[in-house]
Amino acid sequence: MRRPGCHDVPTARPALPPLPLLLLVLSLQLGAPRGVGAGTGAPAELRVRVRLPDGQVTEESLQADSEADSISLELRKPDGTLISYTADFKKDVKIFRALILGELEKGQSQFQALCFVTRLYHNEIIPSEAMVKLRQKNPRAVRQAEEVRGLEELHMDIAVNFSQGGLLSPHLHNVCAEAADAIYTRQEDVRFWLEQGVDSSVFEALPKVLEQVELPRCGQVGDRGKPCACRYGLSLAWYPCMLKYCHSRDRPAPYKCGIRSCRKNYNFNFYVPQRQLCLWDEDP
Ligand SMILES: *[C@@H]1O[C@H](CO)[C@@H](O)[C@H](O)[C@H]1NC(C)=O
Repeated sequence: MRRPGCHDVPTARPALPPLPLLLLVLSLQLGAPRGVGAGTGAPAELRVRVRLPDGQVTEESLQADSEADSISLELRKPDGTLISYTADFKKDVKIFRALILGELEKGQSQFQALCFVTRLYHNEIIPSEAMVKLRQKNPRAVRQAEEVRGLEELHMDIAVNFSQGGLLSPHLHNVCAEAADAIYTRQEDVRFWLEQGVDSSVFEALPKVLEQVELPRCGQVGDRGKPCACRYGLSLAWYPCMLKYCHSRDRPAPYKCGIRSCRKNYNFNFYVPQRQLCLWDEDP
């Protein structure tokens, strides 16, 4: 892979949309983090306008707290769904949450919340201390990710016990409060966290969705009371996934001078005890 840098101009990257390269500037030289009470762990917030894959524009909020070593991102889809992503670097945990609006005229409840918790790898997103320092020159600009990362298909085969969730990440109680009965994770991630010393009481086995031998896809189930294998797809439309380094004659070493932005889609597959908890999953 090519090393990013300031001299890395868009013309050298024909597969990507011709966008200004340093959309956001890390003004590390200035030192002082944004926000009131900076340096005392107060979260810093950045609001950016982003173009969604379907072409619509939405506002995304990015918050970082270098003391808690966490980043959170939130965006509202045009259909009203609120998507949030929380990266907890201290616990190697990331949490996706979807608040899906119900269609009241179809007799659905006001909203449905889902939480998906998986292992965070530290190279997935820029560090929180860099995120805290991100500023944008032009807040009106509509941003589009420079890089589209591959779709990740995840099989969520373990349930997280909400009341024990704090043992996994202190963010879980806030983020997943509305989804207390629908917090999912994966066996492979659980294995890693158990090795890290997380208590096993956090995790509970779920009926096997993976084999899908007995359990049909929700799209094929007519009876709303029947269990089925559900799929939920979400997109992180824009996030700072890498730091860029620049070279200068005045400096002995390359220095951080910006970010590279990414977009990534996720498909979560999980068990639901009733078809009506997965109404968006229609047969194609
Ligand atoms: C969650 O854990 C608590 C404490 O261990 C336990 O009392 C409770 O029954 C568990 N909840 C479920 C749904 O299993």
